Amino acid sequence: MMKADVLLGLQWGDEGKGKIVDVLTPHYDIIARFQGGPNAGHTLEFNGIKHVLHTIPSGIFHPTAINVVGNGVVIDPVIFKKEIDALSALNVDVKSKLLISKRAHLILPTHRLIDAASEAAKGKNKIGSTLKGIGPTYMDKTGRNGLRIGDIESKDFKEKYNALVEKHKQLLHFYNYTYNLNELEPAWFGAIEMLKELKFVDTEHYINNAITQGKKVLAEGAQGSLLDVDFGSYPFVTSSNTICAGACNGLGIAPNKIGNVIGIFKAYCTRVGSGPFPTELENETGEKIRQTGREFGSTTGRARRTGWLDLPALNYAIMVNGVTELMMMKADVLSEFDEIEVCVKYKHKGEEINYLPYDIEKQNLQPITVKLNGWKCDLTKISSKEQMPEALKAYIAFVEKNTATPITIVSVGPDRNQTIQLDKNNLR
Ligand code: GDP
Ligand code: IMO
Ligand code: MG
Repeated sequence: MMKADVLLGLQWGDEGKGKIVDVLTPHYDIIARFQGGPNAGHTLEFNGIKHVLHTIPSGIFHPTAINVVGNGVVIDPVIFKKEIDALSALNVDVKSKLLISKRAHLILPTHRLIDAASEAAKGKNKIGSTLKGIGPTYMDKTGRNGLRIGDIESKDFKEKYNALVEKHKQLLHFYNYTYNLNELEPAWFGAIEMLKELKFVDTEHYINNAITQGKKVLAEGAQGSLLDVDFGSYPFVTSSNTICAGACNGLGIAPNKIGNVIGIFKAYCTRVGSGPFPTELENETGEKIRQTGREFGSTTGRARRTGWLDLPALNYAIMVNGVTELMMMKADVLSEFDEIEVCVKYKHKGEEINYLPYDIEKQNLQPITVKLNGWKCDLTKISSKEQMPEALKAYIAFVEKNTATPITIVSVGPDRNQTIQLDKNNLR
């Protein structure tokens, strides 16, 4: 039986998921996003083009692959329209290759306002949300108040919209938040009209039929496992299940139809927004990683926090996702270091542990690292395993040994071509 593969980020997002989905798309018929929304920013680089996608799956540049926006995704019509316009300007025929679930929820202008009001009210305890309205939209989904793509086609869409906005106005009043909705609504309703030109589909039927017919499906995660609403560093998380199980919920794929689970991680760690980060380097080394890795957000432009690779955290993510293979990104960024540190365990309340515990705040948890030799050479032009420096091979072997999971791809630059396939026997 054909099964759907799932590709997801194992850290705090921005691992390089977009790049790898683009690299793998020629081997798949369908690429499907299952959660998150425009809080995501997935970067693709090829033929001198650099493109950032937010809601649209990263398979969209491929000439034939069908791209599905699943029921678990939340959609801001305004951002969606901008994405489609930008792709059309590059002559990408989006409309024939894009399907949207009728069950996907809509982000209203007032959801964004509530996101901003809620963050402002939290003051220094703010989550560091991307302010795209993600949290409030998922709250309305689970609170059973949300508006869905399927509602757009109903006669009383405007009434449903108004009823929800009335609730939101009360909330904004509670926050004492000043806003001008009249400035936001025309663009939103304009974008809704454009959305109507796209295909609204029962994507759970579409995907399951495709699997039955032997088509190859790749589910594309957004954010990362440590931002998962259940397993991340709560409350400094996003509002969806970013882990593999989220692909079941967010697309309607049964767990026994999940095949390979591809875990993407950077050779170091980054985090954007607030919340604990055990291996964070608030020093020159951290700054060097940030500058070399150009660690500034694809969606918000914010500087990303940086730190060494955290193996207990990586193993936690491998566990909750059932990762079957790893892909290591941005190895080139560590090229300048004489020595590279890797966290192998923690000191937790005076005791040494080798797993990620519940309380990972600085006062409870300090990383214990080992030093590995740096490779000190440019990796960006390397195209095969044979050309890799020994120190990089040793770094890869160290991670594989300590995670008991094979690394099948190492990425050595942002371009599609800067990708080294390690496992030649793998069909991909
Ligand atoms: P995503 O959210 O997981 O898709 O990742 P982002 O696109 O937000 O962030 C990853 C960034 O790293 C992007 O700017 C990519 O172009 C870039 N990138 C991806 N892989 C590599 C790599 O191997 N080396 C370098 N230097 N940059 C990379
Ligand atoms: P991709 O898919 C990195 C972070 C935000 C914030 C927290 C909550 O590009 O990897 P939200 O807007 O979801 O309420 O923000 O989650 N965050 C991300 N960080 N990459 C992302 O997506 C992110 N999406 C959300 O910075 O800390
Ligand atoms: Mg990103």
